[in-house]
Amino acid sequence: MKIISIVGTRPQFIKYAPLSKELKGTHRDVLIHTGQHYDYYMNKVFFDDLGIPEPDYNLEVGSGTHAYQTGEMLKGIEDILIKEKPDLVMVYGDTNSTVAGALSAAKLHIKVAHVEAGLRIFDKSVPEEINRVLTDYCSDYLFCPTQTAVDNLKQEGITEGVYLTGDVMVDALNFNKEIAEQSKILDNLGLTSKNYILVTIHRDFNTDNRNNLENIITALIKLGELGERIVFPAHPRTVKLLKTYGLSNSLGEMVTLIEPLGYLEFLKLLNHARMVLTDSGGVQRDAYVLKVPCATLMKYTPWVETVDDGWNVLTGTDAKKVIDIALNFKPGHRYSDIFGQGACKKISCIINGY
Ligand code: UD1
Ligand code: UDP
Repeated sequence: MKIISIVGTRPQFIKYAPLSKELKGTHRDVLIHTGQHYDYYMNKVFFDDLGIPEPDYNLEVGSGTHAYQTGEMLKGIEDILIKEKPDLVMVYGDTNSTVAGALSAAKLHIKVAHVEAGLRIFDKSVPEEINRVLTDYCSDYLFCPTQTAVDNLKQEGITEGVYLTGDVMVDALNFNKEIAEQSKILDNLGLTSKNYILVTIHRDFNTDNRNNLENIITALIKLGELGERIVFPAHPRTVKLLKTYGLSNSLGEMVTLIEPLGYLEFLKLLNHARMVLTDSGGVQRDAYVLKVPCATLMKYTPWVETVDDGWNVLTGTDAKKVIDIALNFKPGHRYSDIFGQGACKKISCIINGY
């Protein structure tokens, strides 16, 4: 069987790495990189850290509006699919690269497998929600990371081709956790284990909305004044908007703003953090698996089980609430292994018809 995998953003490189290794023995894997992420620390470092070979195709679409990005990807992917004639197209997550891949394949009557199907936050103003719904609609195999995802699809009348597999990111994390421990990132940043807060922010409603980004920065500055050491590897989108709003230089001595990190350095930094403040879907799951308390700076999360288990708390961007949670949050005693184990193996078995 010839499988075409389509990736374009940093979390997709992480998801693709363990699954492609699992599928390699039985299938021919062709990799398309849309080029949505392209800076070294958003792109190449993940290929190096995770041992992913050079993509067979790179569309080099880059940044732009949603329509520009998705449109360019649709055209580029369609050309390759017509030429390569794959049996299956695999897409990951909920980005513009995901929906472009699914739509291009479905219109050519090529089967689509969606890794991370069924997630919903029930808010169509969030671009990822539109990408998730459209991708699921186009998909023949819907690989769900959680039971909630299966239930969401059922509510929409989608029951065929739906499989509860668990989360492929757990495979990536299990494989790389020990390797990541060799990183010197803590020493390099002058940090000691469990003595700092890690922060990642990149969602459009937290960066493109000046009020929300100001609230988040206010909370970080206050936490720094209260003696909390904070490390903030910032996504380029966030860096750009911090500059636009004139917020980059006001963070104080305790808050260290750094470039985004490669997977291994990030994993080590997260594993040793006292707590993480984030709006990232991947980081919420990584934190749960590593048992690092997490505050999610959003109104809702598709990873509701992490909240139910008491390891994740939703703060939105209310500065007072963020500060209170960062200082006082104690994680729950329950731990239900929400994301399961061996998702890549399960997906491979399903595709092979075992
Ligand atoms: C995208 C996904 C989001 C995912 C995230 C993972 C969509 C709609 N959004 O968001 O779901 O959580 O990736 O990180 O697909 N930029 C650079 N260099 C890069 C990449 C981006 O400077 O290598 C800057 C550009 O100014 C760009 C901005 O970041 O305009 C946003 O990038 P984009 O890919 O549009 O969205 P993300 O915020 O990365
Ligand atoms: N990550 C990383 N370096 C960073 C920030 C995040 O390697 O500086 C990893 C992290 O392990 C997480 C993944 O990137 O699992 C999540 O990507 P991101 O937050 O960009 O996207 P999302 O998961 O929200 O779609």
